[in-house]
Amino acid sequence: MSDKPILTTNFGQPVADNQNTQTAGPRGPALLQDVHLVEKLAHFNRERVPERVVHAKGSGAHGTFRVTGDITRYTCAKLFSQIGKETPVFVRFSTVGGESGSADTERDPRGFAVKFYTEEGNWDMVGNNTPVFFLKDPLKFPDFIHTQKRNPHTNLKDANAKWDFWSLSPEALHQVVILFSDRGTPDGFRFMHGFSSHTFSLYNAAGERVWVKWHFKTRQGIKNLHPTEAGRLAGADPDYAQRDLFHAIERGEFPKWRVCVQIMTQEQAKTFRWNPFDLTKTWPQGEYPLIEVGEMELNRNPQNYFAEVEQAALSPGNVVPGIGFSPDKMLQGRLFAYNDAHRYRIGTNYAQLPVNAPQCPYHNYQRAGSMRFDGNGGSGPNYEPNSVPGTPAEAPQFREPPLPLGDVSAWQYSHRDEDDHYSQPRALFELMDPGQQQLLIDNIAGSMKEVTQDGVVVRQLGHFHKVHPQLAAGIARQLGVAPAAYGG
Ligand code: HEM
Repeated sequence: MSDKPILTTNFGQPVADNQNTQTAGPRGPALLQDVHLVEKLAHFNRERVPERVVHAKGSGAHGTFRVTGDITRYTCAKLFSQIGKETPVFVRFSTVGGESGSADTERDPRGFAVKFYTEEGNWDMVGNNTPVFFLKDPLKFPDFIHTQKRNPHTNLKDANAKWDFWSLSPEALHQVVILFSDRGTPDGFRFMHGFSSHTFSLYNAAGERVWVKWHFKTRQGIKNLHPTEAGRLAGADPDYAQRDLFHAIERGEFPKWRVCVQIMTQEQAKTFRWNPFDLTKTWPQGEYPLIEVGEMELNRNPQNYFAEVEQAALSPGNVVPGIGFSPDKMLQGRLFAYNDAHRYRIGTNYAQLPVNAPQCPYHNYQRAGSMRFDGNGGSGPNYEPNSVPGTPAEAPQFREPPLPLGDVSAWQYSHRDEDDHYSQPRALFELMDPGQQQLLIDNIAGSMKEVTQDGVVVRQLGHFHKVHPQLAAGIARQLGVAPAAYGG
């Protein structure tokens, strides 16, 4: 007698033969009454959910966040209430533009998305490994992503589309300079920082609000791949970053990040020389220093990739009392986009899936929908207010403090009017040593060499010239463009 459990159908019936289809005679044909065969084939056909429209290739791990610094003067969020307090987390790292089978070492920003399972619900910090982004208006996101994906005609990645769009969107310069520096090809996920990039807010028990940016500083140190090595690995080991993260955790080398905040008061925000809600800008750390909050450690690999990573649904809209949004219009666009994407990708009841469900009690009056599998509220009332004892009721003590907006009018304000696209990328370029500057020039020229569309190269060189004449000159030399052509 085998000690293996009996193989069954989805409905528990024992399967007597899992090797041979029922056929009319030894040579077939197959019989429709072989419901086990039909069930297996039909379920197999439905094994895939749509891949994420961006950030499709990713790796996940579980871990812990531990408070090391007191920020209770800024936030009443319970997860920060005590030094030493621990909160379970799930993290998903990703590349942005490639498909779910694409290479981990592509030049691309890396997603850095953390789900904190707090006692007051889930807080998701859905950031990147870069402190800024290419855009600052959500209306442009679908166009931008189209330029990073495949050309609809050739089905190839398209340097013309990328540089055409960037050359017409100078707000992208800061992120472009980061992307083509060595930080555009991190050596796996352990050796990079994470950023909220956006400004969020924190409010304390007295209802006082400050603006905040989140920083996750890798304890492993920054390590990036040289473009030649990144290119080699894209063929030799496309799953390089997944392999590195998984095996590091299996070996007990748990990666850690120092979690910090930058704080800006509402008064400071009024006189800050840039728009504090502009996602293409950083806040200089000399003026807004990092304040340590805690440490995040990843120490457990998922048991099942599909269940825990593919079905993970993170959203910048998931905040907890003590953490709020900001007027950043990109962030506001994202507040819609993610949960909408989850409903499409994994279904309306995605929040019930174990990786997404809160680890604190939760109850509301939402009911039914496809694949509801938690008892659907049982025999309790499905409306509120109600006079039934013991049913969930709103809790006004968690009301967020009001956000004053002043005397404003609704309009499509240009996000470029107030703009300085150049000084922060210039400061970054000047911070690089000559070797890094040369690598940046080589990387950009390498990509722009593929551009064939008229006018794009010259227009983009004009932007690079405004960032730094040396940057434009270096690229132009490799592309064989005379300085006079772009105003150099
Ligand atoms: C994933 C939309 C900007 C970081 C996604 C997804 C969508 C989306 C639809 C797929 C979600 C899913 O299917 O699970 C947008 C829109 C943006 C925007 C509309 C701008 C208006 C950003 C920015 C950041 C970011 C600025 C970083 C600061 C991420 C990350 C993921 C993601 C990390 C992957 C989450 C995961 O690992 O599951 N985005 N995004 N996105 N986005 Fe964005």
